Amino acid sequence: MKIKFVALATIVVGALHMAFMQSSLGHGDVQPQAVDTEGLDALPEEFALENPYRLLGGEQYELAVQIGASGYNQNCARCHGLEAISGGIAPDLRMLEDGEFGDEWFMERVRNGYSQNGAYKMPPFEELLSQEAMWAIRSYTETRPK
Ligand code: HEC
Repeated sequence: MKIKFVALATIVVGALHMAFMQSSLGHGDVQPQAVDTEGLDALPEEFALENPYRLLGGEQYELAVQIGASGYNQNCARCHGLEAISGGIAPDLRMLEDGEFGDEWFMERVRNGYSQNGAYKMPPFEELLSQEAMWAIRSYTETRPK
């Protein structure tokens, strides 16, 4: 009898916990995802000033675009729009300048995020994504048709 009660209590507490977790996470509040960059050349610790995979070209750039597509969809699309087409709440990343100038601005924002009145409008990704993953995402957004 006592054992049955304990089992029932465990189930009830478990169900309440699940319900609470779901409501507190809300929808659209997607957790940032690490990006698997296997196959891409590893980069030196110091940040590159210009997209190293674009500079390498060929297969490295193609792979970077591919990896960047999933990295983008997991981490950026909810604000910047599916397939890098802005739905309105954040800038359209296809419109960044091409080349080194656009690269620099891209990295500045991705690493540091953007806050206004003490609240993050865009979270910093410095601790979440590797440099390889960030350049892969840049490779993807800069090759989307405008
Ligand atoms: C929670 C929403 C959110 C997420 C997630 C997000 N961003 Fe942003 N991002 C913003 C907002 C809002 C701005 C506009 C900030 C401003 O006014 O400069 C912005 C600005 C930028 C800019 C500067 C654009 C420009 O035209 O000046 C870049 C580059 C950028 N984000 C890249 C990314 C990348 C890459 C990711 C994913 C790794 C990402 N963002 C994830 C909300 C987000």
